Amino acid sequence: MNILGIETSCDYGGVVPEIASRDHVRMLLPLIQQVLGEAGIEKPDAIAYTAGPGLVGALMVGGGMANGLGLAWACPVIPVHHMEGHLLAPMLEDDPPEFPFLALLVSGGHTMLIAVRALGDYRLLGTTLDDAVGEAFDKTAKLLGLGYPGGPALAALAENGNDKAFAFPRPMLQKPGFDFSFSGLKTAVMLEVRKAEAAGKLCREDVAASFQRAAVDTLVKRAIKAANSQGLERIVVAGGVGANKLLRKEIAAHFDGRVFYPRMEFCTDNGAMIAIAGALRLAEATPADEIKVRSRWPIASLNVPRPAH
Ligand SMILES: Nc1ncnc2c1ncn2[C@@H]1O[C@H](COP(=O)(O)OP(=O)(O)O)[C@@H](O)[C@H]1O
Ligand SMILES: [Mg+2]
Repeated sequence: MNILGIETSCDYGGVVPEIASRDHVRMLLPLIQQVLGEAGIEKPDAIAYTAGPGLVGALMVGGGMANGLGLAWACPVIPVHHMEGHLLAPMLEDDPPEFPFLALLVSGGHTMLIAVRALGDYRLLGTTLDDAVGEAFDKTAKLLGLGYPGGPALAALAENGNDKAFAFPRPMLQKPGFDFSFSGLKTAVMLEVRKAEAAGKLCREDVAASFQRAAVDTLVKRAIKAANSQGLERIVVAGGVGANKLLRKEIAAHFDGRVFYPRMEFCTDNGAMIAIAGALRLAEATPADEIKVRSRWPIASLNVPRPAH
C-alpha cells in the first residue's frame, strides 16, 4: 500500500507563523508532485497528515491539501499526531521494535518519556518543566555564534572539545520522578561563556563538549531509570535530538535492553513518519472525514480504552 505523508507542523521557535503558512501554500503542491514523481506513483492509496500539535496556520495548509487531494483521489485521509509520528518512525526500518517500549522523544519543541504498550496506548512518564532539550542545544549554539538549528553544528564543534573542561549541572538527576529541566544548564553555560569571554580565553569547543555531555548524561540516566522502573526492555529514541551521536552511543552503552532509532533523516521532522503512523492507524480505525488541526494536543488523549494491564 502507498501512503502519502504530509508534515507541516512547523513546531519550532523563531518561526514567523504568517510567513511559514504562506511558504507552505507556495511549496506544498509542487513538493507533492515531485515526491509522487520520484516514487513513480500516480495516486496513493491513502493520505496521512499532521493534525497537531504545531502552528495552526501551517497545519491548516497540510490538512486542507490532504483533504482536497483525498476528495479528488477518493482515498482515505488520516489525521496524525506529530509526536506519535516521531515515536513510530523506527517502524520504517527493517528491524522495527516490538511493543512495549519506552520512547524518549527529544526535539526542538518536546522532551518526553512515554511508556508505549501498544499503538494508541501511551503513558507520559515525564516531560520538561521548562526548555526542550533541542531548544537548549539551539540556544547554546547561538551563544557560541552558530546558526539555527544549532544542534548538529554544536555536536560537530563538541568533537574537538574537552567535555570535562566545565562541570555543568545535570539538573533534576537528584530528584525523584522522570521530569526534566534544562533552563539551569542553559544559564550555567551562559555565565561561563561570559566569564571566559571577559577573560579573553573562550574555548568554544570545550563549552560545546561540556554542554553536550551534561545534556546527554541527563537524558540517558532519566530514560534508563524510566525504562527499568516500568520493566521495559526496549527504548526508542526519536525526534531531532535523536540524531545526536553521543546520545545514541551512551544510551546503548548503559542500557541492558535494546535501543532502536529511526535512520538519521527520519529523526528530524519528515513526512515518512506521518505516513507510517497513518498506515498503522488506518489498519486499526476508520478515519474521520473532517479537517481538524490543534496547536496543543496531549499525546495521552490518543489512548483507546483497553483492559487494565
Ligand atoms: N545531531 C544533533 N544533536 C543535537 N541536536 C540536534 C541534532 N540534530 C538535530 N538536532 C536538534 O533537533 C531539533 C529539531 O528536531 P525536530 O524533531 O525536527 O523539530 P520539532 O521540535 O520542530 O519537531 C533542533 O532543536 C535541532 O537543533
Ligand atoms: Mg518534530
